[in-house]
Parts: sequence; structure tokens; C-alpha cells
Amino acid sequence: MTDELVSDLIEKRRYLHRNPELPFEEYNTTEHLKKWLKENEITILSFDLETGVIAEVKGEKDGPTIAIRSDIDALPIYEKTEVSFRSEIDGKMHACGHDFHAVSILGAAILINENKEQLHGTVRFIFQPAEEIAQGAKYLVDKGVLENVTAIFGMHNKPDLPVGTVGVKSGGLMASVDKFEITFNGIGGHAGIPHHTIDPIIIASQYVTNVQSIIARRIDLFHNAVISITSINGGNTWNVIPEKVVLQGTVRTFQQEAREVIPGYMKKLAETTAEGNGGTVEFQWNSYAPVVNNAREYESIVRESVIEAGYEVVDAEPTSAGEDFAYYQNFIPGFFVWVGVDGPREWHHPEFDLNEDAIKVASEFFATLAVNVLNHE
Ligand code: NI
Repeated sequence: MTDELVSDLIEKRRYLHRNPELPFEEYNTTEHLKKWLKENEITILSFDLETGVIAEVKGEKDGPTIAIRSDIDALPIYEKTEVSFRSEIDGKMHACGHDFHAVSILGAAILINENKEQLHGTVRFIFQPAEEIAQGAKYLVDKGVLENVTAIFGMHNKPDLPVGTVGVKSGGLMASVDKFEITFNGIGGHAGIPHHTIDPIIIASQYVTNVQSIIARRIDLFHNAVISITSINGGNTWNVIPEKVVLQGTVRTFQQEAREVIPGYMKKLAETTAEGNGGTVEFQWNSYAPVVNNAREYESIVRESVIEAGYEVVDAEPTSAGEDFAYYQNFIPGFFVWVGVDGPREWHHPEFDLNEDAIKVASEFFATLAVNVLNHE
């Protein structure tokens, strides 16, 4: 990649950084990405999208279609860095580096387009909105962007890895994210006459402690899962037993097997705890991102491509944060990597920053990977 292209991509990243947009509001980002793709003679596909861009480079030789995905949205965070290109929109910030992802994949598209005579197939570039609220991937899949796509690749920057490294791991890399809300209904009444009430505080208290037995006694030792109850609401004074108590929380897992069985166990325990005490329960479950589960068959080609591009492979450490790239992996095999950016802070921090030298690394790696995958398919 030429120095000129690298500085151009850095400028574009700084533009996006100064102009962050929240999930499903990425209109200006979308417009600019389209403009930059067109300037480089890259075809934009005509999906009917509010925000986000789907582009494609068709190789001159026949072959399948693979996809490379970047997210493009920012967060409702007030930026506290001292960089010259800090956010110009108060209360909004690219604090997860999706500006870096977008220009890196643009860079890969430019490199692949320059070499399309060698390309055996097609590379589709997915610039996805609304990753931060875990809805953008589903939005795009429903619009049909994965049609005819045989495999998908993506990345997240990783502040604790040095620039020039790419973190690679098969299987679970990022946790699934589910949310629950449980309402225990009793019968309210006088705190001094509890035998005339059904006390939902007793029911909820039993549940909060007993629910951890699901992790300890129902989940395989070799699977990973966490149940966290993060909110308990019930009662508003000292001498009245309330009518209901509402619990909220989240479940994180690393294996689909664990993710599938936990809601059933939690619901059953909620019902028996309520019933055993004479109360009733409403159990509400919202499934967000599944596990980012990397397809083992692509691990060696990913590793070889990192080295061929001139960079270093490191073993990726999994994280229990979620990522909606996982949604695509419900439909087709995919592989998600960490790209080292040597940043001072973790994701979503108001002082989040990254080393822009990593743009070149990510662009060159993805361009190499796309050519290698298509030549092997
Ligand atoms: Ni992110």
C-alpha cells in the first residue's frame, strides 16, 4: 500500500472521527463512504438501506462471493481525548474505533479493486450500521445482503495488542448477549401481618441466590456461562409488603449448547419458586447477539494471510463483550479477528484512541485474505 493511500485513509478516518453518528443515524457516514467508493470506481450495490453501504469488487476470473464486514456507528459518549480531530458533536464519539474499521475496509476494497484481474470470484464489502445496539447485522441480513455469499470475515480493533499483530482464534471469541426481566407477583399487605400476604420479596430473594445453581450444577464444566442479576425493584416503604418485585439482568455464554438451555432452566426455577410460595411469575427473555464463533476451516488461511501480508499472528484472547458479527455466522461460516491498535484505553472509554498505523495493517491483511480465500474456494 502506498504512503499516499495510507495518508489519504488517515485523513478519511479523522473526518469520520470528527463527525460521529449514532446507530441507524449514520446518514453522513453512509454518504461519504459511497462517495469514496465511487471515487475509486468500486461498484455500490443497490440494496434499499436507510444507512450502511454494500459494495462489491468482481474479479475477472470466475469464483464464489465472500464478504468483508465493517461496522460504522459511534456511541453516545462525550469525547475526552486531546487529539486534534476530536469529535465535533458533543455527546457523540467513535469510542469503539468503528471509524478505523470503516476506512481500513475501504482501504482493502481499493487494494482488491487494483488487483481484480487476479481475483477468482467476488468480494462484497458490508459497511454495517447499528452494531452498538446489536441490530445492524439482522437489518442487513433481512435486506438480503448475504445472498450468494459463502463466507464472511470481520475484525475489531484491540487496544491491548501492538500495531502489526492480528489476534486469531477458532471457536468462541466473543460472548452471546441475552437480557431477561422477571416479575414475581404476590399479594401485598401489612408488614406486621405477613400471613395475609404473598411476599414477593421472599420469592425474589430465594430466586437470586438459587439461580446461580444453574451455572454450578446444570452447565457443563467445559462450557462458559454467567448469569448476572443487575437490578431488583420492589417495595417503597418499611411497613408494607409490596405486590411485586421485578428482576433484570443478563446472561453471557460462549457455547450455543449453554445458551440454548439456560433460559428454560431459569424460567422453570422462577415458576417453581413463585408457585412454592403461592405467587406467580412473568418471565421475559430478549436474545441479542449470539456467540462470535469462528469457523475452524478458515483458521489456517487467516494465519497464513497475516504472515503473507507482513504482520505477526498472536493467539486471540476471548472477551465476554458481545458483537453482532455473530449474527451473520448463524447463516454462513465466518471468521472474526482482533487487529492490534496499541491504544491507551479500552473500548467505550471517553479517552479511547488508537494508533493509525494499524489502518495499513488491517487493509493489507484483509486484501491478502480475500485473494487467498477466493483462490482456495
Ligand atoms: Ni465495537
